[in-house]
Amino acid sequence: MSSAQSNFKNLFKSENEIPEEYQVPIIHQREYLLNGELVQWNGDVTEIYSPVCIPTENGLERKLLGSIPNIGPKEALDVLDACVKAYDNGLGEWPTMSVEGRIQCMQKFVYLMIKERDLVIKLLMWEIGKTLPDSTKEFDRTVDYINQTIDALKDLDRESSRFQQAEGTIAQIRRAPLGVVLSMGPFNYPLNEIFTTLIPALIMGNTILFKLPKHGVLAHYPLLKAFQEAFPKGTVNTLYGKGSEIITPIMESGKVNVLAFIGSSKVANGLKKLHPKVNRLRAILSLDAKNAAIVTKNANLDIAVSEIILGSLSFNGQRCTALKLIFVQKDVAEEFTQKLTAAVSVMKGGLPWEKDVKITPLPEVNKPPYLEECIADAISKGAKVLNENGGYNEASFVFPAVVYPVNDQMKLYHEEQFGPVIPVVPFETIEEPIDYQVNADHGMQVSIFSEDAMEVSKLIDPFVNLVSRVNINCQAQRGPDVFPFTGRKDSAEGTLSVFDALRSFSIRSLVAAKITDSNKDLLNTIVRDHDSNFLSTDYIF
Ligand code: G3H
Repeated sequence: MSSAQSNFKNLFKSENEIPEEYQVPIIHQREYLLNGELVQWNGDVTEIYSPVCIPTENGLERKLLGSIPNIGPKEALDVLDACVKAYDNGLGEWPTMSVEGRIQCMQKFVYLMIKERDLVIKLLMWEIGKTLPDSTKEFDRTVDYINQTIDALKDLDRESSRFQQAEGTIAQIRRAPLGVVLSMGPFNYPLNEIFTTLIPALIMGNTILFKLPKHGVLAHYPLLKAFQEAFPKGTVNTLYGKGSEIITPIMESGKVNVLAFIGSSKVANGLKKLHPKVNRLRAILSLDAKNAAIVTKNANLDIAVSEIILGSLSFNGQRCTALKLIFVQKDVAEEFTQKLTAAVSVMKGGLPWEKDVKITPLPEVNKPPYLEECIADAISKGAKVLNENGGYNEASFVFPAVVYPVNDQMKLYHEEQFGPVIPVVPFETIEEPIDYQVNADHGMQVSIFSEDAMEVSKLIDPFVNLVSRVNINCQAQRGPDVFPFTGRKDSAEGTLSVFDALRSFSIRSLVAAKITDSNKDLLNTIVRDHDSNFLSTDYIF
């Protein structure tokens, strides 16, 4: 057995070898959240399988985790109606509730959510194959995000809790909700990414239609009751089923005011076009990306290698922010690829809960053959897999491959592999990676590795106008969550951060009056008697 293979020998275990603390019960979910009720579903279901395989007499088989409702277009439109009714043209209980009242509901939700922490983390590991530390981080980061959102809203409200005067007019300016928000997220962060749109949208007073991702759907099941108990009925409603069947009629109805979507630009464009009045639709989108790393001859190669490993292989490369194409200057290409290959070779493959495991089984059934196809395409055009066992595939498991030298004729140069393959492109002059970014359809982030201040500054200036975040000597990433997260071209529409998201899911609305004695009396009386939730100078502590 080769040294690299010893990192993942006997990867898949029989059920009785899986420690009890990481086992989960089979969940046959038969409810969905509609108008404050967990409605029973007796129709079609979709079975949910884990990327974790179990050895059987027929070979390795993905473990059955349970099943979920597969609702149809009629039920989807009922869910939409509940959401529209709860918003009630902005007159519903939730959109008219005071900010303080909405914050209290959200605090109750977080309290209930935390009670489900252990089960949600286990379901994340089983459903999407995310490691225990990363699944734990996803849950805890999401709770932090909600708490930070509450604090950011308090700040926003405090700033708005005063009157402003200009040109003889007095006004109070606040942010108001937009309406019905359709929130759809990806499988790689099924909890965190959905909540980074759903939570700010919700707390700003919108009502939510929430389409569960393809993988990572059962991880939300323990939270349905928390939504039900924490918010007024109809405020949050869930959708399960085939996107093409249930989302099409929802978009065609014209009743969705905001599309919050994290996925491919192709799907996002298709969804937007279904809306009959595009001017009424706001879109907050996080889409395609193939972030490049640029390693120049002046880089500290050890730092570059460790950050590139993190950037390209955290969660097996299945992050929108992952480094998906590595440019290295020819002068240091040999030394860099040797160090990179050595670092990849010692990575441990295994099951998500096993100690020190970094590479885990992949949830998408078609991903291993797709990665194999990309690697074969590169080999047929002159590249090699540099590391021992690179691209090794067993059922849902793929060991990372370092592919070199990659060029613009290969799929790996253009396609977002979203998996454990690291394509490395040698370059002579710095114009080559800049040209890549100029011609790319996406523009999210870049990572520059160099210790030369002049060289770095010459790269910063073009790249800040080509992408939305330039990382110096570190991997690409979304966090800290208080920083703006966005992209250019096909990578994003709108900006998300704890604070920006509150703005993205709201619109400014103001109450204005001429400064006259009678208007001053009128406004003072409204404020003193607390007759309006909007017109108020109350300060939230
Ligand atoms: O998949 C995209 C995520 O937003 C990436 O977040 O950079 O913190 O892993 P991250």
